[in-house]
Amino acid sequence: MADHAQDLEAELGRLLDQERFPPPPAFAAAARVTDGTLHAAPGEDVPAWWLEQTREILDWKVEPTVSLDSSKAPFYEWFADGELNVSHNCLDRHVEAGRGEKVAFHWRGEEGEERDVTYAELLADTQRMANALKARGIDKGDVVGIFLPMIPEAAAAMLACARIGAVHNVVFGGFSPGSVRERMEVSEARALITVDQARRKGKTAPIKAALDEVLAAEPLPTLETIFVVRHVGEETPMEQGRDHWLDEAMAAAPAECLAEPLPAEHPLFILYSSGSTAKPKGILHTTGGYLTQAAWTHREVFDLGDDDVWFCSADIGWVTGHSYIVYGPLANGATSVMYEGAPDYPHKGIWWELCERYGVTLFYTAPTAIRACMKWGAEHPREHDLSTLRLLGTVGEPINPKAWLWYHKVIGGERCPIVDTWWQTETGAIMVTTLPGAQDAKPGVAGTPLPGVAVRVLDNEGKEVSTGEQGLLAITDPWPAMLRNLYQDPDRYEETYWSKFGPGTYFVGDAARMDEEGYVSVIGRVDDVINVSGHRLSTAEVESAIVAHPKVAEAAVIGQSDEDSGQAIAAFVTLEGDLEGTDDLVGELREHVATRIGKLARPKRIIWSDDLPKTRSGKIMRRLLRDVAEGRALGDVTTLKDPDVMARLEEQIKTGAVPEED
Ligand code: WTA
Repeated sequence: MADHAQDLEAELGRLLDQERFPPPPAFAAAARVTDGTLHAAPGEDVPAWWLEQTREILDWKVEPTVSLDSSKAPFYEWFADGELNVSHNCLDRHVEAGRGEKVAFHWRGEEGEERDVTYAELLADTQRMANALKARGIDKGDVVGIFLPMIPEAAAAMLACARIGAVHNVVFGGFSPGSVRERMEVSEARALITVDQARRKGKTAPIKAALDEVLAAEPLPTLETIFVVRHVGEETPMEQGRDHWLDEAMAAAPAECLAEPLPAEHPLFILYSSGSTAKPKGILHTTGGYLTQAAWTHREVFDLGDDDVWFCSADIGWVTGHSYIVYGPLANGATSVMYEGAPDYPHKGIWWELCERYGVTLFYTAPTAIRACMKWGAEHPREHDLSTLRLLGTVGEPINPKAWLWYHKVIGGERCPIVDTWWQTETGAIMVTTLPGAQDAKPGVAGTPLPGVAVRVLDNEGKEVSTGEQGLLAITDPWPAMLRNLYQDPDRYEETYWSKFGPGTYFVGDAARMDEEGYVSVIGRVDDVINVSGHRLSTAEVESAIVAHPKVAEAAVIGQSDEDSGQAIAAFVTLEGDLEGTDDLVGELREHVATRIGKLARPKRIIWSDDLPKTRSGKIMRRLLRDVAEGRALGDVTTLKDPDVMARLEEQIKTGAVPEED
């Protein structure tokens, strides 16, 4: 085994010099797109090209005649005179075309249970669930929260909302009950679909009971209904009138529910994401443009064919799950694998076991996961037959070349192209990558803007930087799947995305470089957003959770580079009065953050500091905190109110311990 590992190291080391990887010949021979024609297709009139694409890829009830409408910019509209229904496009049309028996999801539970859900079954469940929502008075435009683990009901719940024009607001299962409550409150959700208990690595968590607790402490009168999926099946408290078992409500509901034709700009979902302030942003997506680009990118970027088996390892609580577990794959009538559990449970080769079991051909995951697999060792994938795989993808954060090469060699057997896809919750769909049959991949470099997407790298004043120079990533023309607004906060929408560079240019919030071939390398966020294992968190959100602890006077949070998770949260904490920082208190603060936001926001490292580096005007200099946390030489400290504070922090860093993750 040790020899194996050394051989692999040596081979990866040799490959590190190879800067580009052309499409593997066998892949390219059968690929959908093998030359530059698709790139040339948009030509001058990009909106007209998108109009053609949407007519081809979706089934419109009323075909749109207009493409982009910029008259209310930056509140852009796409295909505004068209009408369609997302759940019809994801379900009914496939069943009507005789593909009802095709598997939509091969579901695998944590303890090995298997359930194949066909398109016909998913349609039947979706209709009954939509009727159950209607029976509780949920109507077009009402917000419905979804807080579910990775089970087929999660997809059905989203589609049920889409079927009747309700707007879903999915919350990632790793968030705390308090965060769920907050997201239900700010979106004025009328109903919430959740689960009795969730399973995680052999344990169960009483989700419904925990939600009850926060709702009892701070009631939410707007939340009239809670549907509970019977998943683990243990005793669960139910509140008369408000709470309903979903299976019972569905059994009592009529089997048929009309897929309501909706205007293209009808809201489809809100997804809360972290921004520069402690208040999460309710990113709003609408119907026609979003579905067009989610479906189009899923088909073209992943070279989707009829017989492919797709496996996206994301959670539906993130945008990747929305676009590439639910909407893109289902709109394209694809067969997917959905896995309930963690990548290392019940064993560290579970993903590869699933690839072998279901004959997965296309696999999409995050660089953090690849780095974890590297650490666990190549012996886990090697225990499984991965020969059906023909394409691999990554998303969420930059991928370091070594992880790229390991993925290419160990998982892809050197025959699968890798697409490194750059996009955001806001963009709705992949924007920058390589078309796998047509373009060379460069490890660590995302790729070029996709057809119909206009991306540039600008300086602070909005002027294009020179080739190869670092600048700010910007999108210079509207695109169909773009966010339409921040829920009930149009001022913040304009301010956050459209004020930096002036009218018509979208501010991404990422630093990037573009090479002479137009390939974009994405470097990372330029705002106070931290990317931990591909999960977006705001420093302000974590700070405000920490300072809410009675023993804390002040806190500053930064994202520190981390070998495993890309970035990790480090918190500099000043305690009240003359309280001493202890290991117990480290544990207490981490638990406190887990309770307020969720486990994913727990600081990896807490550094006690009797003061923080501040300018004379009182602004915390995070740049210096990042320098000291990452062990770099400190820059100019003369502008600090107390220049000695940094020397004390450097000392503190050396003695501070990093707690173990559980
Ligand atoms: C980062 C996830 C480098 C980026 C779909 C972006 C990436 C943020 C990549 C969005 C990539 C995403 N290479 N960085 N391929 N993909 N990012 O909203 O900083 O959760 O702005 O959407 O992740 O994160 P979000």
